[in-house]
Amino acid sequence: MASWVRSVVILVLAMVLFPMMVEPKVWHYKFNVVMKNMTRLCETKPVVTINGKFPGPTLYAREDDQVIVRIVNNVQHNITIHWHGVRQLRTGWSDGPAYVTQCPIQSGERYHYKFNVTGQRGTLLWHAHITWLRATVHGAIVILPKHGVPYPFPKPDHEKIIIFGEWWKSDVDAVMQQWMQTGMPPNVSDAHTINGYPGPVPNCSSTGYTLHVEAGKTYLLRIVNAALNEDLFFKIANHKLTVVEVDACYVKPFKTDTIYIAPGQTTNALLTADQTSGKYLMAISPFMDTIVAVDNQTAISSLRYNSTKPYTPITLTALPAVNATSATNLYIESLRSLNSPKYPARVPLDIDHSLMFVVGVGVNPCATCVNGSRVVAGVNNVTFVMPTTALLQAHYFNISGVFTDDFPGNPVTPYNYTGTPPTNMQLTNGTKVYRLAYNSTVQVVIQGNAVIAPESHPIHLHGFNFFVVGKGMGNYDPENDPKTFNLVDPVERNTLNVPTSGWTVIRFTADNPGTVYGFCIVIWKYTRHGG
Ligand SMILES: *[C@@H]1O[C@H](CO)[C@@H](O)[C@H](O)[C@H]1NC(C)=O
Ligand SMILES: *[C@@H]1O[C@H](CO)[C@@H](O)[C@H](O)[C@H]1NC(C)=O
Ligand SMILES: *[C@@H]1O[C@H](CO)[C@@H](O)[C@H](O)[C@H]1NC(C)=O
Ligand SMILES: *[C@@H]1O[C@H](CO)[C@@H](O)[C@H](O)[C@H]1NC(C)=O
Ligand SMILES: *[C@@H]1O[C@H](CO)[C@@H](O)[C@H](O)[C@H]1NC(C)=O
Ligand SMILES: *[C@@H]1O[C@H](CO)[C@@H](O)[C@H](O)[C@H]1NC(C)=O
Ligand SMILES: *[C@@H]1O[C@H](CO)[C@@H](O)[C@H](O)[C@H]1NC(C)=O
Ligand SMILES: *[C@@H]1O[C@H](CO)[C@@H](O)[C@H](O)[C@H]1NC(C)=O
Ligand SMILES: *[C@@H]1O[C@H](CO)[C@@H](O)[C@H](O)[C@H]1NC(C)=O
Ligand SMILES: *[C@@H]1O[C@H](CO)[C@@H](O)[C@H](O)[C@H]1NC(C)=O
Ligand SMILES: *[C@@H]1O[C@H](CO)[C@@H](O)[C@H](O)[C@H]1NC(C)=O
Ligand SMILES: *[C@@H]1O[C@H](CO)[C@@H](O)[C@H](O)[C@H]1NC(C)=O
Repeated sequence: MASWVRSVVILVLAMVLFPMMVEPKVWHYKFNVVMKNMTRLCETKPVVTINGKFPGPTLYAREDDQVIVRIVNNVQHNITIHWHGVRQLRTGWSDGPAYVTQCPIQSGERYHYKFNVTGQRGTLLWHAHITWLRATVHGAIVILPKHGVPYPFPKPDHEKIIIFGEWWKSDVDAVMQQWMQTGMPPNVSDAHTINGYPGPVPNCSSTGYTLHVEAGKTYLLRIVNAALNEDLFFKIANHKLTVVEVDACYVKPFKTDTIYIAPGQTTNALLTADQTSGKYLMAISPFMDTIVAVDNQTAISSLRYNSTKPYTPITLTALPAVNATSATNLYIESLRSLNSPKYPARVPLDIDHSLMFVVGVGVNPCATCVNGSRVVAGVNNVTFVMPTTALLQAHYFNISGVFTDDFPGNPVTPYNYTGTPPTNMQLTNGTKVYRLAYNSTVQVVIQGNAVIAPESHPIHLHGFNFFVVGKGMGNYDPENDPKTFNLVDPVERNTLNVPTSGWTVIRFTADNPGTVYGFCIVIWKYTRHGG
């Protein structure tokens, strides 16, 4: 063949094949951090927002694509953004927690977050990862499946984003500062929100958000719990939901009338508009099964069929009781990995690091606090001290004196975790890390304790998904409890809730190299990182 003929053949072949081999795309976003006056609960206050929006803009990407977000900080607060659940393979600098993977973006500064979304598809969220700014600085992340790859469930007619939040009438930093200064638990929020809107509260009417639907169509609800502190129940009157994915991992579809979702978790559920017309209550309410105060306001919104006649009364529904532990257990036990040939559950079976993290609170001296002490969060009796140099920076550039390598992988002084607490409730303070070898397999028993009060704790692991292989009440029993583990199709996710007075066991493979990631736990409404 003459060389020009060969070239033409290659060119034609390339033209034919090229549409199949779609180049990875780069998605560019500009996030302007700006103040915005917002009116909620009949009061107006300035809040920190991205591009003036609450909730903020949705970040769309496709599996295998690259995302570049240019941040410009135009406010007087330091800020960072965390892409909650994005694995950040070899891009730890873009993970976002202030003083863990980066120094904050100061007023007037810019920062570029650049990462690929690899091996993930579904819904996640982004949020500010410094002080309490995430109250108004958050939004959804939608990772679409690769071109030509269908969802492993019937294709919905439409997709809708549903974001839950919490609203304080006061400035959120003032609420946090008051906690720091007094040592008393911070004030609970004044309302919950659905897509930025609370329902009516005493003396302030509000219709809230409306989800418009058409009879006979199916909708994929991409549900995000961006509340700071609260576990929530979500329900729509007269409609069932089919859960198909959590934390950007497919699950075996199951039907439920109530969704239970912890802060930082996401859930994709199919809704079929199977009524002919009408307005239906769509509401969220908190879950709390211990003595800790919660914002007990129900946020109300509505589902409205486009064929609904004016003045149609809304169909109501009752949400589970605030302490309905059985409803949360029923829901959690229904969650199973899809575990199909295409999406296998690769649960580590041989464990290199077998760890036990006891999580809870302690009471440490505090000279500026009203009682001379402050309630602090801890893991294995260590409360995290925020460094002034980011941990990843110290690790990467070998800067000594920022952290120590002695985070205890197991409790140093075992006690009856869910029984009578130790009389000395003081915690060791430190910036300690636990090192894992690349590719090692890890099991962590996360045991809640009962110091001051037993409490359910949301736990998020940065940079990894994990499999939730077991859970139970009381103290973990290393002899008998492993016999109950699900090592076949346990749910895979990035955020979980340790049950009140109970334990949860997770497994993951440490396959995200060269980075320092934190175990982030929210205790008594204040975020702390363990090693
Ligand atoms: C918010 O409203 C106050 C009072 O009207 C005004 O002084 C302030 O400039 C406004 N802030 C913003 C960010 O628009
Ligand atoms: C903002 O970040 C800088 C750099 O880490 C730090 O020096 C400064 O104290 C921070 N400001 C506030 C208000 O926290
Ligand atoms: C991200 O994807 C781009 C385009 O495929 C590639 O060039 C780049 O090396 C990837 N980055 C990382 C950190 O994997
Ligand atoms: C917290 O609540 C108390 C009691 O309602 C109130 O006095 C205080 O001003 C609140 N703090 C903030 C920062 O709003
Ligand atoms: C609502 O308004 C009435 C009349 O102004 C007042 O008596 C009542 O205390 C208000 N309730 C709340 C919760 O603010
Ligand atoms: C909500 O909490 C407040 C304060 O703790 C309490 O007075 C009120 O009765 C509670 N409301 C409901 C509906 O539980
Ligand atoms: C509802 O929406 C569908 C599709 O947009 C349209 O065909 C239908 O006429 C609408 N019904 C009403 C009552 O508006
Ligand atoms: C939930 O709280 C109610 C009211 O305080 C109480 O009567 C009930 O026993 C509690 N249920 C559980 C399961 O603790
Ligand atoms: C731990 O405390 C619980 C609750 O008080 C009690 O039921 C249990 O027997 C205790 N376990 C041991 C080993 O002492
Ligand atoms: C926790 O650490 C403090 C301070 O080092 C110590 O006094 C206390 O005994 C420890 N408690 C436990 C249960 O290890
Ligand atoms: C750590 O603990 C020591 C001893 O209790 C105390 O003096 C110091 O201020 C603490 N540091 C922090 C950052 O809490
Ligand atoms: C890590 O594990 C993967 C999968 O088992 C393997 O392909 C890879 O070679 C391992 N890498 C190292 C450095 O051990």
